[in-house]
Amino acid sequence: MPEQRVLVLGANGQLGKALRAEFPTAVFYGREECDLSQPEKVSELPFDTCDVIINAAAYTAVDAAETPEGAALAEAVNASAVEALSVLAAEREILLVHVSTDYVFDGTKKSPYLETDQFNPLGVYAQTKAQGDLAVQKAPRHYLLRTSWVIGEGNNFVRTMAALAERGIKPSVVNDQIGRLTFTQDLAAAIRHLIDSKAPFGTYNLSNEGPASSWADIAAQVYELTGHDPVDVTGVTTEEYFAGKEGIAPRPLWSMLDLSKIEATGFIPASWEARLASYFSQLD
Ligand SMILES: NC(=O)c1ccc[n+]([C@@H]2O[C@H](COP(=O)([O-])OP(=O)(O)OC[C@H]3O[C@@H](n4cnc5c(N)ncnc54)[C@H](OP(=O)(O)O)[C@@H]3O)[C@@H](O)[C@H]2O)c1
Repeated sequence: MPEQRVLVLGANGQLGKALRAEFPTAVFYGREECDLSQPEKVSELPFDTCDVIINAAAYTAVDAAETPEGAALAEAVNASAVEALSVLAAEREILLVHVSTDYVFDGTKKSPYLETDQFNPLGVYAQTKAQGDLAVQKAPRHYLLRTSWVIGEGNNFVRTMAALAERGIKPSVVNDQIGRLTFTQDLAAAIRHLIDSKAPFGTYNLSNEGPASSWADIAAQVYELTGHDPVDVTGVTTEEYFAGKEGIAPRPLWSMLDLSKIEATGFIPASWEARLASYFSQLD
């Protein structure tokens, strides 16, 4: 069977970079090739020459999305452009792969979120991502991967903590937001797996496996893995951390995603602890 022709949007983001290794023959579009803040540009994408579109682009500035300018951009990129993509993918019978977030939930559940759980997004970014999910779910041929706490090549929490450790800083880190990391190599591999295995279309949760942990737990592991003392990390509540700061988007406290559905298709992600250890060994 001929290789599927794949177009990736969001080529230069954390996930976009990981997709380059997983889909070496794909065509990659960044913001220059298609600016999704102008959703009408979506109709100019080369639909005739692709079988699959993977949308790794998103407006991901969670706090900036609370400003009027940020909200307008988040709405355009995460909702309106995705709606346009979904409509055109359906018309052209193209497979649409899209990525969403645990932030569509309010984080009040006490067990891992299922793909079918009710949305209750807390902030503007989250609301626009939820709108995108509803749009993608209207395309008959879609994979919607809902993920959490993404770590890849680029600015992310793990890099920030490693930089703080290097500078001898003893940070306060939130200890009441609970979840699991998702390394982009596993997210990209999960996308490849769903496409290649012809798994049933629909929504799939995807994070790394491993224990439920707080950001403070993860920061302590980063300190240890980089040869620093984990007791330098002090845990604080989200409320304490953001006290007196303006323009902060609310975050869900519970971000655990149930992985049973994707694991039943044969994709078992590595544990985030193993990935975190190899993340630093690769940077050496
Ligand atoms: N990061 C997380 O912790 C997290 C958690 C859960 C879910 N997710 C979801 O996972 C997916 C991938 O996230 P990521 O961490 O890879 O994000 P990222 O590193 O912030 O990358 C997002 C990409 O989207 C592109 N983009 C933004 N505005 C655009 C526009 N107007 N037109 C075209 N492209 C635009 C950016 O382009 P530039 O490079 O030009 O800025 C960037 O390359 C997203 O759907 C995100 O919502 C992320």
